[in-house]
Order: sequence, then C-alpha cells, then structure tokens
Amino acid sequence: MKISGQILILMSLLFSANVDGAEASPGVKVEHLGVNNTLVRVDSNAPFVMFPVQEAYDDATVNVLVDGKLDRTIYVRLAKSKVDYSVPFDLRPYKGHDVVFNIVTSQDRTNVRDAREDACWVNIVQTDSVDTSNTEKYRPAFHHTPLYGWMNDPNGMFYKDGTWHLYYQWNPYGSKWQNMTWGHSSSKDLVNWQHHPAAIEPNGLGSVFSGSSAIDTENSAGFGKDAVVAMYTSAATSQVQSLAWSHDNGETFEIYPGNPVIANSSEARDPNMFWNAQTKEWTLVLAHALEHEMLIYTSPDMKEWTLQSSFGKGLGAQDGVWECPDLFELTLPGTDTKKWVLLCNINPGGPFGGSGIQYFTGEFDGKTFKSDLDANGKVATKWLDYGKDNYALVSWSDAPENRRTVIGWMNNWQYAAETPTRQYRSSNTLPRDLELFQAADGQYYVASVPSPEVESLKGRKIVSVSSATIGQSGKKYSLPRENDGICEIQMDVDAKSAKTVTITLSNEKGEKADLVYDPAKATLSFDRRESGLTDFSQDFPSVTVVPLYSKGTLKLQIFVDRSSVEIFGDQGKSVMTNLVFPTVPYSTLQISAEGGSCKVKNLAVYTIKAE
Ligand code: FRU
Repeated sequence: MKISGQILILMSLLFSANVDGAEASPGVKVEHLGVNNTLVRVDSNAPFVMFPVQEAYDDATVNVLVDGKLDRTIYVRLAKSKVDYSVPFDLRPYKGHDVVFNIVTSQDRTNVRDAREDACWVNIVQTDSVDTSNTEKYRPAFHHTPLYGWMNDPNGMFYKDGTWHLYYQWNPYGSKWQNMTWGHSSSKDLVNWQHHPAAIEPNGLGSVFSGSSAIDTENSAGFGKDAVVAMYTSAATSQVQSLAWSHDNGETFEIYPGNPVIANSSEARDPNMFWNAQTKEWTLVLAHALEHEMLIYTSPDMKEWTLQSSFGKGLGAQDGVWECPDLFELTLPGTDTKKWVLLCNINPGGPFGGSGIQYFTGEFDGKTFKSDLDANGKVATKWLDYGKDNYALVSWSDAPENRRTVIGWMNNWQYAAETPTRQYRSSNTLPRDLELFQAADGQYYVASVPSPEVESLKGRKIVSVSSATIGQSGKKYSLPRENDGICEIQMDVDAKSAKTVTITLSNEKGEKADLVYDPAKATLSFDRRESGLTDFSQDFPSVTVVPLYSKGTLKLQIFVDRSSVEIFGDQGKSVMTNLVFPTVPYSTLQISAEGGSCKVKNLAVYTIKAE
C-alpha cells in the first residue's frame, strides 16, 4: 500500500505516543500511572469512543471524569490479549468538555499485573458513528433483540397512545451482565421494534434493576398529569426501590430526589406497581427474593407505601430466588368468573433447571393474596412455560381492550452468558396474551397464546396439506429456504392408533430437534440434545416436557426463528419456549408415527415476513 508522505506526517502527529511508546489512536492519549491504573484522555468533539472488549477477562473500572469531576463509573471487560468486539461510549453529551477516563484494570491487589501491554490501549478509537448492522447469524429475525450488548429481563412496559413501550435490563458496554440500565424499544404492532437511547442509567443509588411503569393520569405522585412513572430497584450494597418519571412518553426520565421510597433489610427487588381500580389505590408487589415471598404494599401517591401482607412462604416452588412478580385479574372467557394471577419468576428451580415462571391463581382483596387450593387442599405449583428459555416474563400496563399482554426474556440464567453470540446477547420471546382456563381437574390455569399482532408476520404458505395419514416411515416437507428457514408451522394431530407422534426439524448436517406427542401420557416433549451447538454449557442439552390439558385432536402452532423454537399446544395451554443453535438452518420438517399411524390435518408452513 502506498501512503503519501503528507499523510504519514499527519498520522504521526495524530498518533500520540503513550508513556511506553505504543501508539494510541488519533485523539486518544494514554498515560499509565501505575501497574493497575491508566488515564485515557479523549477528544470530546468526536461523537464516540470505542472500548475494545475481551469477554474472557474481568471488568475494568472506568471512572468517567468530566472537567476533572467524576461523572460516573462504568465497568468494561477491556481487552488484554485480543479484541472480541468494541462497544461505543457516547461522548455527545460532553462535547467541548475535558473528558478523561481514569481506568483501574484490576482491583485485585494480591495479583498485581502490568497492564501496559494490554491490547485495549491501542484499540481505543474515536469514531463519528457506530455501525450497529447485524453481524450475528443467530440473531432472531422476528424477535426483539438489543442492537448490541447484553439484555436480560423485560420490564417497565406500558402501552400509551398506540405505542407499546418495552424496557429491558441492558448492559451497553458488553455482552455479559453488568452496568444495569433500562434499555428502551417501542413498537406500534408488537412485532417491529424501534430502538431508543437508554432510558434510565445507573445513578447515585446504584444500578437500575427491573421494575414497572404506570401512567399517573390523576397526578397522584405530583410529577405531573399523565406522567409515566417508573419504579425500579436501585441495586448497590443494598436493594431499595426508586421512582423516576417521564414527561416525554418514556423517552427520558428524571430521577426522584426523594429516593428510595422503600428500603428493606434483605434483598427485595423488581417492584410491580399498578393502579387497583377496585380499591382505588396504587398497589405494589415486591419480590423478597431470598425469603421466597412476595410483599404487597399500597399507596395513595406512589411515594408513601404501607406494607399490607406477604404471600408465598412455603408455597409452590421454593428453590432459588423469587423475582419479577406481576399481579392482575383475568376473566374466564365467556363467563363472569374472575381470578387474580400472581406471577412469580424463580431462579434456579424452574421445571427443567435454572429459570422458570411459576404462577398462582387465587383471590386478592386489595391487601392480601390467597392462592387457590387443589383437590387435596394444597397449593399446586403451576408453570406458565415448560421450555427452558422463558424467564422474567411480566405484562404491559394499560394494554388496550383489557388485554394482558406479556413478553419474556428468551434465555436461562444457567447459560445466558455463554450462548454463542457476541454483538448482542439474548432476545425476547414472542409477545403473548394470557387467558384463564379451567382444566378437567377443576383447577384454573393460565394459557399464553401468541398475541394477535403476530399474525401479521405470516408470509407465503409453502406447505399446505388438508389431511394426511402418516405411519412409521413418516412424511417429509421442506421448510422455507429464504431468511434461514424462519417459519410458522401449524397442524392438528389426531394420534389415532399411534403410540407417539414425532415432529422433527432437521438440517443437512444431521442436526435435529424432536417434538414428541404422547397421547397416553398426555404430554408433549421437546428434545434439543442434537439440535446444533449445545456444548457451550452442560445445562443446555435437554428434553423438556409439558402436560396437555385437553384430550382429542392436538392443535399445534410452532414458531421457528434463527435460534429459537416456540411451541404452542392446545391454543397456548401447553407452551414450551426453547433456544436452539443449528449450525445451518433447519430445512426439513418430518412427521412420523410410532406404533401405529396418525392423522395430520390442516398442516401449513408459512414463511415469515421479516429480515
Ligand atoms: C431477574 C433479575 C432481577 C433483577 C435483574 C437484574 O432476572 O435477577 O431480579 O432485577 O435480573 O438484572
């Protein structure tokens, strides 16, 4: 490559030498103060500075000094031997100011190492723009993901003026959990999402854990009529509950200076606040995580909260921690019967290890929740989803038409940090609407059906079979080629003489995921042990099993994205959400019957209208 003399001179002027002679990038000055401590000065007229990340190493502490004062501290896994990817730090708010990063590469004084040669210093660069175009083959095409960085729980969701707002636990500075911030996306149709800047960032009381939002139509909190009020957990040494409000429909938030509004002595988090129209009070459910109980509070103004009761000690699944509650009323379709539903996400201790969504049905008088009892007078353990990858699911407040629309984090704490993506990590489930149903055992359960908006994703029908008798040799159908085979599959299965019916998604590499219908056991199971990449965690290869609540023809609706399979049996009564990482897309759908033959009706495979 020929570089003109002039450019070389310019480059040597721009590349400021650091104290050890290694060259930093234009605009960036690196000064090593001591073995674990380095100052990085940048030009705040450039919009961004990119921090190079190497996931295998621990976080460096990056203190952001603006005009000599500490503005904030972030934690970044700065690259030591190689750069996995880079994350942007937005300098635009500091334009024209003096910006210095005071970086501590290790807090460990017993293992002092010299960071001067680390790969990060020469790879900290300033840029005019950030390229967020997708670089990941496993990034879902029709599920919400953050543009980059780590995501866990959806939270703080509200619907207002035709827009669905989704906030999520986000690390903007790397694809592993850290720097908990409320990321923000919005959608007019629940399936196409627009990304917004971070809504609530770590602040003086700590990082910003999960919570909820409500529209204060009567200005009871005094933040203004129709303010969007968010309540979240400020997490630092302790976990306390804080308020923030927004006057621009959730785009930006002000932090309430009177925070915290609730402080407990042991871990309490994920406040779920709502207006109870029956008691005319603000009502709050808070997860008392280690105590395995949900605390219920009421308030006239969102600021002064009175503890009314607690629910859960010794009831339901008790392993792990209780997190991310939600409490709402559902009506049994076609009747006046109503039940309150208390969602109680737990981790670990889910039905197939790790994370799971437990729920209780019962009565709520505004102060106390009482769970239904089963025929034996016991509180039954109920799960909303029997896959491994649906967690921290909560609902939108103020959804239209009295809908109870929910979305989950499509991952599991067992291996969420190891899943084979880098630019981003984790997606959401499809949005679902909850419905109450009564099963043959007389108990009330909650079904989750794909939200009606999901219907708009349907593209061309590429397989259409009105009726087929299928035996042991099975029948094969092609999945779409376009868009890496993403599709929706529907069918009604009548097992007839078959002992089991197996529905297999497979590719030319022999990777496969098997869905097995066992009418005698009244179960559906999903086996992903040979589904593609599985060895990133010993907890990933698995078989999940969901009970079926109805007899007769089984209605199935299956959504296949680039790294997930969501199975809805019996119109959402039996649901399994599981991640899969096939090394090439699944291309074949095979249906076979064991021990007899079955009848499959209304088989349809649709392409999905997404990129
Ligand atoms: C659940 C959870 C919440 C907490 C958040 C932190 O996945 O542990 O309890 O608020 O994640 O990111």
